[in-house]
Amino acid sequence: MSAIISPDVSLEQLKSTTPVRLGVMASGSGSNFEAIAHGIINGELNAKIEVLIYNNPDATVKEKAEKLGIKAVLLNHRDFQSREELDLAIVEVFKNHGVEWVVMAGWMRIITNVLLNAFPRKVINIHPSLLPSFKGINAVEQALEAKVKITGCTVHLVDLAVDSGPVLIQSAVPILEGDTPETLHKRIQVQEHLIMVRAIALLAHLEN
Ligand code: GRF
Repeated sequence: MSAIISPDVSLEQLKSTTPVRLGVMASGSGSNFEAIAHGIINGELNAKIEVLIYNNPDATVKEKAEKLGIKAVLLNHRDFQSREELDLAIVEVFKNHGVEWVVMAGWMRIITNVLLNAFPRKVINIHPSLLPSFKGINAVEQALEAKVKITGCTVHLVDLAVDSGPVLIQSAVPILEGDTPETLHKRIQVQEHLIMVRAIALLAHLEN
């Protein structure tokens, strides 16, 4: 049983002339960050990751950035008094690097208007469910507990509420007999990497 991506746009259709300048935010393993970087290296995506921001000193995304030669900046949320202060620092780093689009690729912090106002309608997020179902943390577990037969992943424009905002692209992933959170999340992540690259290509295409 295969996944279904909608809209079913091919990367060929979405070639853009001007590279989009990306700032990526990640908290964890960074497989989505890596997928974007590989999409750029493979020529599927006309973009440049100007800088990665990560908030967790142990996040393995840092090593991935080093290997790829992409600048990584640690902004540890524990060093900031409020969410707004952290976002202010994020905005400063992104503006200093000429970032146009912000990609939340597994960013496990709630963002504020400080970031959204600095990049109006230019912040995207990836979430491991078919939004608006199963918002928040443990989305994969939530889908299994609800005993639905299909779940998936979503890339959407970000607004102030958690995991909310206009959907750009989704992939539907069947839940199989005997799936655990790990087996299901693994299949969802394969789709995340595909739709992440397509979502950025779509945005770049619309801008050009
Ligand atoms: C992904 O499942 C994403 O949907 C969620 O956090 C996870 C990040 O994975 N928001 P990775 O760090 O990109 O591997």
